Amino acid sequence: MLLSLKHVSKNYQIGETVIHALDDISLTVKEKEFLAIMGPSGSGKSTFLQVASMLAEPSSGEVLLNDVAVSAYNEVQRAHLRNKQIGFIFQSFNLLARTTALDNVLMPLLYAGVDTNSASAKAKAKEMLSRVGLSDRLGNNPAQLSGGQQQRVAIARALINDPSLIFADEPTGNLDSKSGEDIKKILQDLNREGKTIIMVTHEEDVAAIAKRQIVFKDGKILSDHKS
Ligand SMILES: Nc1ncnc2c1ncn2[C@@H]1O[C@H](COP(=O)(O)OP(=O)(O)OP(=O)(O)O)[C@@H](O)[C@H]1O
Ligand SMILES: [Mg+2]
Repeated sequence: MLLSLKHVSKNYQIGETVIHALDDISLTVKEKEFLAIMGPSGSGKSTFLQVASMLAEPSSGEVLLNDVAVSAYNEVQRAHLRNKQIGFIFQSFNLLARTTALDNVLMPLLYAGVDTNSASAKAKAKEMLSRVGLSDRLGNNPAQLSGGQQQRVAIARALINDPSLIFADEPTGNLDSKSGEDIKKILQDLNREGKTIIMVTHEEDVAAIAKRQIVFKDGKILSDHKS
């Protein structure tokens, strides 16, 4: 199994109050699946993505990646694994300002210890930007790009290490409908090519491109349907 969560809970304590952001979540995700995670604000969707992508540790329960418990890895191993196997796309793009599209896309290679000045690294980054239709924007920094273009740079960045698993937290949330359509198409193509995608969205039409829809409520899974 690519990803399993077993009785995962995540609590946040603020003063005397404990918030049960995730409450006993169990779920398995196979390779090549495409999940949409839906549910009201505060229902635990982003927390779920953070825990499932190893960005945050669960308060209890276990997350397994390729049948190995994530808790078996130390922090350095986990960071390495995340960099190699997981791509993350955010609602707010999270690109580095005053940094060109090309250098933003090269960033995960830098973290992986690759020489980003090498011709092969640059060729790879250019290839990723080309596949999201931005070959002519390599030298532009985020302020010189539209929201849709910035999100495409972020997708190219998420893809450069050829991850098997892509997480997206409201990837079209800040985009106009035309740019949103571009992102939907890219995600659909990636899934057809075999990438596993787990995507949070509030939008029904975006959720409809996934093949499995999961609805969260109060930190629990309310429903889990294949479409
Ligand atoms: N770092 C944190 N510290 C304290 N509480 C948090 C933290 N992150 C999330 N929470 C709380 O956990 C609950 C779930 O939050 P989460 O961000 O996962 O919701 P969400 O479903 O993604 O909501 P939205 O649709 O608004 O993005 C909320 O009650 C939230 O206030
Ligand atoms: Mg959220």
